Amino acid sequence: MQNLIINGGKKLNGTIKVHGAKNSVLPIISASILMNGKSVLHNCPDLSDVDAALEILKFLGINSQKSGSDISIASITPENYIIPDELMRKMRSSVMFLGSILGRTGKAVITTPGGCMLGPRPIDIHISALKKLGAKVKENRGTLEFSAKGGLKGADILLDFPSVGATENVILAATLAKGITIIRNAALEPEISDLINFLNAAGARISSGGTGTVIIDGVSELDCAEHTIIPDRIETATYMAAAAATGGDISLKNANASHMLSVIEVLRKTGCEIISGDSLISIHAPERLKPVKSVKTSVYPGFPTDAGPLLISALTTASGTSVFCENIFQNRYVFVNELSRFGANISTYGTIAIVEGRRALSSAHCRCTDLRGGAALVIAALKAEGESEIGNICHIKRGYENIAENFRQLGADIKEV
Ligand code: EPZ
Repeated sequence: MQNLIINGGKKLNGTIKVHGAKNSVLPIISASILMNGKSVLHNCPDLSDVDAALEILKFLGINSQKSGSDISIASITPENYIIPDELMRKMRSSVMFLGSILGRTGKAVITTPGGCMLGPRPIDIHISALKKLGAKVKENRGTLEFSAKGGLKGADILLDFPSVGATENVILAATLAKGITIIRNAALEPEISDLINFLNAAGARISSGGTGTVIIDGVSELDCAEHTIIPDRIETATYMAAAAATGGDISLKNANASHMLSVIEVLRKTGCEIISGDSLISIHAPERLKPVKSVKTSVYPGFPTDAGPLLISALTTASGTSVFCENIFQNRYVFVNELSRFGANISTYGTIAIVEGRRALSSAHCRCTDLRGGAALVIAALKAEGESEIGNICHIKRGYENIAENFRQLGADIKEV
C-alpha cells in the first residue's frame, strides 16, 4: 500500500504543465483496434489505467511502445475477441473495448464491468445501442457474449441518456459497420471530439456538429494515424481547486480553458481571479473563499461530476455554506466520510451535499475511496496545518501522473512513502 504524507498550510505558488486527458487516451487506445499499421499518440499521461488499456491490447495481439509521453501502437487484426475477467476488473472503462473489438471482429466477450465506488455502473445503454446495430447478446453468469454475423449494420440510435461511454462504444462499433449510423442524444464531452478526430485522421467518416447528434458513415477499413491527446480538464480543475483551497497563485501550461468554462465560472464565484490565454490558465485565490449557493453537476458543458469532490474539498473552509447537487453518479459522495476526518462539516442527503465552511481544517489520517474523492483528500491535506497521511493512493494513480512531484513544484511539502 502506498501513502502520501503531506505537511499542509502552505499557499501553492508556481507553474506546472497539465498532462493529456485520461478520458481521451483510453477510448483512443481502444480505437486503435479498428486500425491497420502504426499509430503514434502524443501527450499521453503516464497512468495505471493507461497501462491496463495497453495490457488489453497486448492480450489481443496488438503491441505498443511507450516513450516519454508518446505511445506507438502496431495495429493488426486482433488475434482474440475476449477480454479476460481480470483485465476487465482492472478498470471500469475497459467496457469501451467492447465497441472496437465487436466492430473489428464481429464478436466480443466481456464480463460485466467491475462497478466502482461511484455506484452501480450499468451498461444497459451500451447494450441496447449495440443491439440496434445488429449485435446479438448472450449473458451467462456475468459474462456477456456479443456477436454480429455478417458484421454490424448502421442504424438510427437514440440514447436514453447522453452516456459518455455508450456514445464512445457506438462510435467505435459503427465506424466499420455497413451504412450510416446516427446517434441522437450523444454525449458532448471534449474527449468524444478527440476520439472522432483520431478516427477521421485514420480514414473514418464521422461528423458531429457538437449538437448531440453524431453521424457515422461506415467505411470498410481504416489506416492508422498520428494524434495529440487533448489536455486533461479534470486534472487542470484539480490543481486549480488546490490553489483555491490554499489561497495560492498558480499557472497551468498546456491547459485548455475552453473545455472547462463551467468549472472556471464556479471558481470565480468563490472569489478566485482566473485569466486564460493560448493554452495557459492562471488562478489567484483570495485569503478565504466565498461559499457558492448551489453547484449542480450535469453532462457537458455543465459542471462536471468529476470536479464536484474537488470543489467540495476547497469550500470546506469557505466563509459560509455551499450546496452541491450531484446528478450523474449515485454515490459520488462516498469520499465525504474520509474528508470529514479533517474537521470538514459536510452533511449529505442522497445527491445533495451541504458544506458548512470552517475557519480551518486539522491534519488527519485517511484513505482514498475513489479517484476524484482521493484528489479531494489531497486538497484538504494541503490546506490543513500539520502532517496528514493519505492511504490507498492507487486510486489516485489511476488518473494523476506524478501528483506529488507536481504539487512539490507548486511549493507543497508532500512525499510518497
Ligand atoms: C465517463 O464515465 C468518465 N470515464 C467518468 O470519469 C465521468 O465521470 C463520466 O464519463 C461522466 O462524465 C471515462 O471516460 C473513462 P457515463 P462513463 O456512461 O462513461 C449511467 C473519472 O473520474 N449509465 O456518462 O462510465 C451511469 O451509471 C471517471 O475520470 C447507465 O445507467 O459515464 C452514470 O450514472 C469517473 N447505463 C451515468 O449514466 C449505461 O449504459 C453517467 O455515466 C451507461 C451509463
